[in-house]
Amino acid sequence: MIIRPRRLRNNQAIREMTRETRIARQALVYPMFVCEGFNKKEAIPSMDGQFRFSIDRLLFEAEALLKLGIQNIMLFGIPDDKDIYAVKAYAEDGIIQRALREIKSRFPESYLITDVCLCEYTSHGHCGVVENGCIINDKTLPLLEKTALSHVTAGADMVAPSDMMDGRVGAIRACLDHADYTQTPIMSYAVKYASAFYGPFREAAGSAPSFGDRKSYQMDSHNRREAVREALLDVEEGADIVMVKPAMSYLDIVREVRNEVQVPVAAYSVSGEYAMIKAAAAKGWLNEAQMVCEAAVCAFRAGADIYLTYFAKELGKYIDEGRIG
Ligand code: PBG
Repeated sequence: MIIRPRRLRNNQAIREMTRETRIARQALVYPMFVCEGFNKKEAIPSMDGQFRFSIDRLLFEAEALLKLGIQNIMLFGIPDDKDIYAVKAYAEDGIIQRALREIKSRFPESYLITDVCLCEYTSHGHCGVVENGCIINDKTLPLLEKTALSHVTAGADMVAPSDMMDGRVGAIRACLDHADYTQTPIMSYAVKYASAFYGPFREAAGSAPSFGDRKSYQMDSHNRREAVREALLDVEEGADIVMVKPAMSYLDIVREVRNEVQVPVAAYSVSGEYAMIKAAAAKGWLNEAQMVCEAAVCAFRAGADIYLTYFAKELGKYIDEGRIG
């Protein structure tokens, strides 16, 4: 007798019935950039279809997203003023803090996650306090605590520290608990590699480091065991969700982390992944919709429970159209 795996591939109905991976829009998170000013919707050149919105315009966009059934938004702030201590990252009138208050008061059903990091707010573009050219871990922690607390006070549903300082999840957890925000989850960018795939984001957020690189805090792409170590440490410190970033070139890491932790795992399909698909599609070299669907399915198959993607709106539509299960 020949064993015939093809029986389960013969038509769409049986293929859909026997799928191992299913995608729901509830598992998608849409990252957005918010900037100072009024009536602004600035195109980001290397991220065709993504924009920097002033708060008033962001509200329209949030409404449109909710109508599409995308309620999870990750917010990145682009301040006008930067300085060495990232003061605007934790200011009550900071861009993110104001955006949170406005969105939450109008759309309480939205689920707002904030990226907690200093790099968009420091004049040197690094994710921590810099002294003599070094990024000082333990002097950065109190600033991250203040930033996270200011986000939660302004209405953030979840905070996502992305700086890769040691001990920051524990520090932020203790700070939030102390302020009685015991119910606010932390999604840690636990496994964040120093990656060239962040290039377009840094253009969008104006957050490229002015000297050196991020290799003394973000991970080395050659390493896999270290990813497990980072993820386990963050769970121990109180992370509710751990993230792997980037996604596409790091799906082995997503699987590795999935196998090692009990908490949900998120995968972040970063700006460079978005830009690659957009650029190739614009040239007519790839089919954008098919690429977007395949990349998403593969991230979930690798073990992601949550997928952060600039294609969240498109994916919502593709799910409706039955292009992906
Ligand atoms: C902030 C941060 C970055 C990204 C998310 N949070 C940039 C970086 O670390 O340089 C990248 C997101 C993307 O490329 O889409 N630290």
